[in-house]
Amino acid sequence: MPEPVPAFTRAATLAIKPADKLAAALPGSADSCTTAALIAAHAGQAGALLPLLHAIQDKLGFIAPGSVGDIAQALNLSRAEVHGVITYYPHFRTVAPARHTLEVCRAESCQALGGDALAAHVQQRLGCDFHGADASGAVGLEAVYCLGLCAQSPAVAIDGVAHARMTPARMDRLLDPLLAEAAKVDANAAVAQAQASSAAAPRNVSVDGRHLLQAPHRGQEAV
Ligand code: FES
Repeated sequence: MPEPVPAFTRAATLAIKPADKLAAALPGSADSCTTAALIAAHAGQAGALLPLLHAIQDKLGFIAPGSVGDIAQALNLSRAEVHGVITYYPHFRTVAPARHTLEVCRAESCQALGGDALAAHVQQRLGCDFHGADASGAVGLEAVYCLGLCAQSPAVAIDGVAHARMTPARMDRLLDPLLAEAAKVDANAAVAQAQASSAAAPRNVSVDGRHLLQAPHRGQEAV
């Protein structure tokens, strides 16, 4: 089996979990402090908008919509100008990416060697289009235009690691552990939530024929 080819590092910055979205958007969170520090470092500089947006996304994986006003103010721009730039370039994200990023090459060589069928298979497997993610938020799907592996098309990259001569079957073998990992995380979270609810809920118990309502931390009450 061909070894994965380390080729890209860009996606390594994209491993922010969807569950972190809310915390990242909250004022006072670590991510909002990071954004504020980057804005301060670029404040007042001419032509600093794109470098600042790249810096924020490289650090956090996305640009929180709540930071648009602060960016505009620091760079003496209108909110519409900042918003326009963020939405003009597909590179910029306004929501946290999935845990893993799958990039499928859509350039000519890969298209000529099965890239279309591979892309359709991946979309069907993940249940999403490009720029989307599977329902669990485990794998985000992105198009990329040449991974530098044209002689070994079709090619994909997962979290920045390129894989050449990809087939739907090989693709499934790479996706299976990522999706299984997400299912396990979801299952563990569900169990933890159920245990927390169970611990907090009063329980009906019977002692010497008397029915008691046992409330955690409050002893027992006859009912
Ligand atoms: S066209 Fe796909 S790697 Fe170059």
